[in-house]
Amino acid sequence: MKDIAIREATADDIHAIVRVRRAAFTEEEVRGWTTPEHSIFFSRPALRAAWDKNDTLKEGWKIAVAECGGSISGFIVFGVKDGCGFIENLNVAKPQQRLGVGKALVLYVENSAKTAGFRMMKTDTTENADGIPWKSYGFWTKMGYKDTGERLPTESDFKEIRFLKELTR
Ligand SMILES: CC(C)(COP(=O)(O)OP(=O)(O)OC[C@H]1O[C@@H](n2cnc3c(N)ncnc32)[C@H](O)[C@@H]1OP(=O)(O)O)[C@@H](O)C(=O)NCCC(=O)NCCS
Repeated sequence: MKDIAIREATADDIHAIVRVRRAAFTEEEVRGWTTPEHSIFFSRPALRAAWDKNDTLKEGWKIAVAECGGSISGFIVFGVKDGCGFIENLNVAKPQQRLGVGKALVLYVENSAKTAGFRMMKTDTTENADGIPWKSYGFWTKMGYKDTGERLPTESDFKEIRFLKELTR
């Protein structure tokens, strides 16, 4: 997709962020890979409340949005964890998937992390009880993220898969 503009989100983007999250994947699709949706990104009032608290989300995570043709088609939640840049959440609305929006958001965050002096990025996804990774696994490996081999148990049947990427200068 041409002309993808990435910028930091503002509270005015709450409506669009929730719309994108709802349009990125369904509860049905994700069953087995995560717990039922309690995410603040699924609810405008919950996201608004988190935002109003101190204008940041969950202990300082930042959000960037992707604008294409005047409308928001994706968002990424990122910050710092364990001394590395960390991608907490990434969603692109289904009609705009596979058009380069996710890649543009990840590159924006990686560049921000590099500018801030970080050498490593981390993120994670999950695998279900049968050991099948969530479908974003291929996206992360395409973006240069290496599966660390760690499989962290959760309170449910699925496990967390940890990814690491060394940022080049
Ligand atoms: C995963 C997701 C963010 C990818 O965003 P996207 O905009 O569709 O991906 P892009 O078009 O930027 O793809 C970048 C590259 O990854 C590849 N890719 C994208 N999705 C892929 C997948 N599921 N499997 C393998 N490769 C994939 C693309 O073909 C592209 O390769 P190229 O650079 O050689 O052309 C998006 O599909 C999404 O929002 N999915 C639902 C929510 C989700 O799973 N979020 C991640 C949670 S861990």
